[in-house]
Amino acid sequence: MTIVSFAIQKGGTGKTTSAVMMSALLARKKREVLLIDMDPQASATECLVDPSQIQENPCIGDVLLHRKDAKMRNAIRRCDYLKTLSFVPSKPAMLIDEYWGSYSNIFPDTLKIELTSVEKDYDYIILDCPPNLLHFTKNALWASEYVINTLEPEPLAYEGLNQFIVSILPDVKLHNQKLRPGGAILINRAPATRVYLPEEIKSRILNNPQMGQGFLFRTEVHLDQDLAKMPFHRKPASEYSSSRGVSDYAALTVEFESKIPP
Ligand SMILES: Nc1ncnc2c1ncn2[C@@H]1O[C@H](COP(=O)(O)OP(=O)(O)O)[C@@H](O)[C@H]1O
Ligand SMILES: [Mg+2]
Repeated sequence: MTIVSFAIQKGGTGKTTSAVMMSALLARKKREVLLIDMDPQASATECLVDPSQIQENPCIGDVLLHRKDAKMRNAIRRCDYLKTLSFVPSKPAMLIDEYWGSYSNIFPDTLKIELTSVEKDYDYIILDCPPNLLHFTKNALWASEYVINTLEPEPLAYEGLNQFIVSILPDVKLHNQKLRPGGAILINRAPATRVYLPEEIKSRILNNPQMGQGFLFRTEVHLDQDLAKMPFHRKPASEYSSSRGVSDYAALTVEFESKIPP
């Protein structure tokens, strides 16, 4: 069993799309996968299920707050279209709890402790983090063995990646020595509206002593509308499309398994 966070403090970089797609494609390969939606915006949950079907299901916020005696095992749902994929949902109600500071005092090792009762049931536990470094991301990083970053090939995204690797990772490692960088995935989701400098960004990553050769996944994700339609279909795109983006993620999943064994 291996726990992997998809994290970076910047928003809209492809964390959720990557976490959902790679969880689904690993599950299609008969890996037992648990995807935990650590973002109160519930984007990963919206890509997997109609929220009206999980109203009674405890969410990750309930588990972390030990609310109504919620236990991790009771919060896990199996996808009915893909039996080897399970998930723990997030709910937008968590946003208002977060606004009022309900999660501010949870210990950073709460998720790690909660996972001990279920982790033996899975090959991979994938944690989709919010676009900040607060309590949900901190809990995810303290529980993980690997962290994967996603970024668009633009200058500020590179700076965000550098800040994460240089400042955040060493701090987490003081508390979780097992955590290792799992590498970064380049996501080309908006080339027409952004200043993309892919060759420059790749060369910076290659020449950064804390990243270097092999840090970047070889496969890049192309712009693909089918990937963006997951919240309409309530399914990972691999369940309804064989588009370019889906095959990109299939190739990324092969790389993922060779870098990160179960
Ligand atoms: N390769 C892609 N092609 C087109 N749209 C994409 C692609 N990857 C992500 N998106 C869309 O871009 C937005 C941000 O992606 P998302 O995965 O939610 O990022 P994050 O979780 O880092 O905030 C979402 O609307 C998503 O559907
Ligand atoms: Mg997200």
